[in-house]
Amino acid sequence: MKSAVAPAIPFSLLGRRTAPPDIARLMTMALEQPGLLSLAAGFTDNATLPVAAVCAAVEALAARPGEPEFLQYGINRGRPQLRQLLAARLAAMEPALEAGQLEPQLFVTNGSQQALYLAMQTLCDPGDIVLVDRPSYFVFLELLTGLGVRAVSLPVDGRGLMDAAALDSRLAELQRAGKAGRVKAVYFVSYFSNPAAHSLAEAEKTAVAETLARHGLFVPVIEDAAYRELYFERPYVARSVLGLEAWREFPKLYLSTFTKPFASGLKVGWGVCSDDEWLAAMLNAKGHHDFGTANFNQAVCEQVLASGAFAAHLERIRPAYARKMRALHGALERGGLGAGGWRWAVPGGGIYLWLEAPRGLDTGLESAFCRACVETGVLYVPGELCFGDEVPKNFVRLSFGVLDEARLQEAGRRFVSVAQRFA
Ligand SMILES: Cc1ncc(COP(=O)(O)O)c(C=O)c1O
Repeated sequence: MKSAVAPAIPFSLLGRRTAPPDIARLMTMALEQPGLLSLAAGFTDNATLPVAAVCAAVEALAARPGEPEFLQYGINRGRPQLRQLLAARLAAMEPALEAGQLEPQLFVTNGSQQALYLAMQTLCDPGDIVLVDRPSYFVFLELLTGLGVRAVSLPVDGRGLMDAAALDSRLAELQRAGKAGRVKAVYFVSYFSNPAAHSLAEAEKTAVAETLARHGLFVPVIEDAAYRELYFERPYVARSVLGLEAWREFPKLYLSTFTKPFASGLKVGWGVCSDDEWLAAMLNAKGHHDFGTANFNQAVCEQVLASGAFAAHLERIRPAYARKMRALHGALERGGLGAGGWRWAVPGGGIYLWLEAPRGLDTGLESAFCRACVETGVLYVPGELCFGDEVPKNFVRLSFGVLDEARLQEAGRRFVSVAQRFA
């Protein structure tokens, strides 16, 4: 409660810039409307959360001889054995990389979100620019806003593919405006992305690197691979920036997480940073945030990786997510959403469907369409939140992560019924 006598707190610039996350507003709407089916939050599937695997891991930790070090503070950088296991797992996916080379560059964080914050905190000052994919992960965009950093989109063509010629023009524009020096990083989600469920081909990533290099912009690149292991039937075959020749001269940060493919509540993420100084700066900042991060949660992750339980869990959840995706996609299709002029691609992984509404239909947070959806008992993430600039109003992100198949079908039916009213 505000005091009648004390003056208002003179908050820092950052304190003043922080705003309630848009997702919190959506969640409040969900709570205020009992019976509402939420396709909004990017939560994972409750029914397949790895309770047995986590219990077995904790029992195995407790049975270890010696002191229970896993309940003590850990080291800032993350548990050494966990780092070795993660380096080996990544090396197995990347033909040109070796575990021994990756391990010294690897650090463990409180979710990959913390790594994103560390990356931005160590690279950017207010007024700087970060190039982002289009559409992009909206919590990252909010993070940039909070830091006073401007997001500029990496242009895409009509099919949603990276458009190197348009990027070339955009960089030339920034150069003419004397702003190129403010470009501090480039960020993209490259496998079954949030929100578009899009994966970036090696050629697309290479074209971005070559275009930046032509402009002399060897800025740090952050590749967010949060959903790489969450494919339905087969992995998306593309090397990461760590292994692509075109990115050789760039400082690189590759990020991944246990939250999406294993257990969100453990909130363990990790990164590989190719640049020693940048890595040191991030680890220093991390020490200021939390020093001995969630050692117990990391120990659980280490145990499930070592025992094979992590791999077994992935085998179990991939078909489950595929069924959930089909339940929602099927409901939209059967309801005739496509015939109504809506377009979406059937994803090969991840937890989202990304819908383009007919041009002219406003699906934004304040739109009549959004209100009608809430009144009809279905919630989505307005696509407008997912763009760094030049924000279109006619996109929608639907998450099939949380609801079971029957509820997904019902949510899909409700969504279609509103779309038909607005046709
Ligand atoms: C693309 C992407 N990156 C990073 C994160 C952060 O994940 P976490 O901090 O839970 O590891 C998310 C979470 O939704 C995401 O979708």
